[in-house]
Order: sequence, then structure tokens, then C-alpha cells
Amino acid sequence: MPLPIIEPFRIKSVEPIRQTSREERGRALADAHYNPFYLAARDVLIDLLTDSGCAAMSSRQWAALMNGDESYAGAESYYRLREVVDRLTGHPHLIPTHQGRAAEKILFQLLGGDGHAFVSNTFFDTTRANIEYSGAVAIDRCTSEADDLVSDYPFKGNLDIEGADAAIREHGSVRAIVMTVTNNSRGGQPVSLANLRAARALADAHRIPLILDACRFAENAWFIKTREPGQADRAPREIAREMFDLVDGATFSGKKDALANMGGFLTVRDEGLADAARTLLTITEGFPTYGGMSGRDLEAMAAGLDEVLDDDYLRYRIASIRWVADGFARHGVPIVQPAGGHAVYVDATRWLDHIPPHRLPGQSLVNGLYERYGIRTVETGTVMFGKRDPETGELIPAARDLVRFAVPRRAYTQTHMEYVVEAMGELGAVRQELPGYRPTRLPQYLPHFTAHFEPCAPAAIPAPAP
Ligand code: F0G
Repeated sequence: MPLPIIEPFRIKSVEPIRQTSREERGRALADAHYNPFYLAARDVLIDLLTDSGCAAMSSRQWAALMNGDESYAGAESYYRLREVVDRLTGHPHLIPTHQGRAAEKILFQLLGGDGHAFVSNTFFDTTRANIEYSGAVAIDRCTSEADDLVSDYPFKGNLDIEGADAAIREHGSVRAIVMTVTNNSRGGQPVSLANLRAARALADAHRIPLILDACRFAENAWFIKTREPGQADRAPREIAREMFDLVDGATFSGKKDALANMGGFLTVRDEGLADAARTLLTITEGFPTYGGMSGRDLEAMAAGLDEVLDDDYLRYRIASIRWVADGFARHGVPIVQPAGGHAVYVDATRWLDHIPPHRLPGQSLVNGLYERYGIRTVETGTVMFGKRDPETGELIPAARDLVRFAVPRRAYTQTHMEYVVEAMGELGAVRQELPGYRPTRLPQYLPHFTAHFEPCAPAAIPAPAP
């Protein structure tokens, strides 16, 4: 047996997690209107709702907090972050924001608006919401390789270059191409360097900017290193730099690959755009040298951005997600293959095939898993991405309900994840008992955060008339 890839850290500080009974969790779920976003975290045993903002910081990051310079203007912490971001991206303008979506809000308020559009390999939901809120249209063109969930195609996050080209010609006022790395809404799958280069050429041909949604740039760089021909000998930092070299700007959430609990930024090359962004930043976030962050947040992010590119960390990170995926596959649970960089995605539509799509099999899996095992996950399907019928307001089922098991960085041990794998094995044996769900409250924007649901018999209720 080869030696296992191990966690490249030991644990210095721990936080208790709380066991609850199935009855308690059943009540908590009903009180949460069957939407786990409303659960109190103290009622959750293992929280795989997101990988965002819940990383365990290193002792180096905690120490860096004490160096936080809380000066209103020109704080040392800003210059420290700028130095790290300069080295990472080479982009001349850094606009710090309190998290990723604040960077999106500023960028798309400036570039978007009525009559315009943006094209992406796939927009994350907050990105799409910010674009649509500006009056513009968000067009997804992901490679068709991603439609086959079980193939082992290595770069299912790629942009469909021809499809994007056609969409740009057809729409007539596409203002930028946005590359989301890794592609969170399509299984956490990576984008290849070759595809980023092709996206660059496409943007040049149409004379529009290319923007990176860089939230998980380091995980994407590791996939390029390990999967793309000719990249194996390069350092993740070098690959990451090439990714940033290819684009005109980036939005970033420090809550993912900066291993921080809060923070984000926008970087751009264009000075006019940077000036306009700083004006908006000052109105909505804060002074340009801190944006939406305290000095200590800037420090934690600067330290994390360096740590995340460490070979041992990335090798462990990607292997740990693969380990969960392999465990699910062993139990016959259908997942998106290959495993993503930050999460494993279960095909609930296939696994719970007794529940028709409009009765939300993804929501059913999420709720069943919480009630029986205390594990919190999230549906990424009809509720998160489904369109609404403009006349009835009803959800139109998405192509598939996936359930995302997102793994916080450095927070859980392999035994925690073994519990998750075995819980899915057990649930598999009784999955036919899980009910369907129907929404009882459905807000217009980002409905998954605040929707209410109620359980219902999966088969007894007829589908709405077409
Ligand atoms: N872009 C991507 C690809 C994301 O995954 C997220 C957040 C954002 C932008 C927004 O960043 O949260 O700092 O405002 N994703 C989290 C998730 C919420 O659970 O996937 P933020």
C-alpha cells in the first residue's frame, strides 16, 4: 500500500461540535421551513453547506491579525495585501471589498445595465444576480462535456468557445466574458489553461474584457498542474500567475482560496475603470485602502493567499475531496465525476428517482441527510438555479438537482468525512422513504437562501399543467 497523503498540519485549537437527536433535528428542520439555511449552526453536526468563510486559519494567520493596522487611510495592512496581490496577479489596481459579491456589485454596476449582456463558462448565483440586478443579461456557455456527469473528462468547467462566440454575435452588446475558476455551479470542475487562452483570443476578437471569477484559483491551478499536458513541472504559483496574466481583471472572495473568514477584492488593469470602481467603493464599502475590511482582515487574507499555493496543502486538499467522492461511488451514490476541487456533487435526480423533478429531489436529499445524520449540505439545482415560469411564478425544474457537499478548508478530519460517507451509505438503503417538497414561499432573487418548503408525497401530486 502506498503511504497516504496526509493533512499537512496539526491541530492547535479545537471547537466542539454538538450531537443532537433525530427528534430534535426534525423539529429544527420544521422550524427552519425545511430550508437548512435557516438552521442554527449549533444544531448541525457536520456543516458542508459551504466552503466559504469557514476555513481553519493557520497559526501564521492568527498571528498576522495582531499586525492589523486599523488606520482609516493608508494602513500598513493594505500595503501588505497589495504586495501579495501584485505578486499573484500582476494587476495594477487592487480594490478591497468585504467579500466577493461586493466586488461583483461594483464591477457589474459599472459595466452592466439595460441592454447589455455577459457571457461565462457558468455564472455563480451572486454573480448572475448582480448582473441581472443591473438590468443586463447573464448567458452561460459551459462546454457540452459537462453534460455527461459520469465521464472523466478533466476540464468540465471549460467555456464552450464556439457557443460563447455565437452568443456574443447574436446578442450584440456583450460587455465582458467571465471565467469562473473552478466552475462552482457545474460541479466545482476546473478550467484548462488552453481554454483560458482561447477565451482570451475570443475576447480580443470581440474587443471586450476577459474577467476571472478567481474564488478558487489555487484549486484550479492544481488541477491544471496535475491534469493538463506539459504543466506537471510548474509550481501552482506560476500557473496561477499565468491565469491572471490572461485576464483584464478579477473578482475574488477571500473566503475561499485566501483561507480567510471574510474579505474579497476586485483587480483591474484599466485605470479609468479602477477610478470609477474606487468611487463606488467609497460610497458603498469604505475608503480605497480598506474597502470593506478591517486591517486584521487584510492581514489574514494576505497570509492566506500565500499559504494556499503550497504544494503539500493543495495535494492534500484535492486528495481529500477525491477520497469522499470515492467513498460515495463505493456505496453506489451517483456523483459528478471527476471529483471537484472544493466539493462533491451528488446527482439527486438519479439517486432519488422516485421523486419527480418538480418535487425537488435535491431538497429532499438535503433535508433527509440533515434529519437523520445532522449533516448540512445544499441543493444546487431547481431551487438554486431553476427559472421561474413568468406567468405562474412556479419553478421550472433545472436539468438536474445536484446536492453539493462542500468541504471547509482544513476544518474537518478524515474521520468526520468517513462519517459523511457512511451516512450516505446508510441513507442509500432507505432513500425510497424520502418525501418530495414543494415551495410555500419563493422570493425573486437568490431564492435558495430564504425560500420556505413543505414535505409532500412525491408521487401523489400531479405535475403542474405544461
Ligand atoms: N463567485 C463564486 C464562484 C462563488 O462560489 C462565490 C461564493 C462568489 C463568487 C461570491 O463570493 O460569498 O464572498 O460574496 N460562493 C459561496 C458558496 C457562497 O457557497 O459557493 P462571496
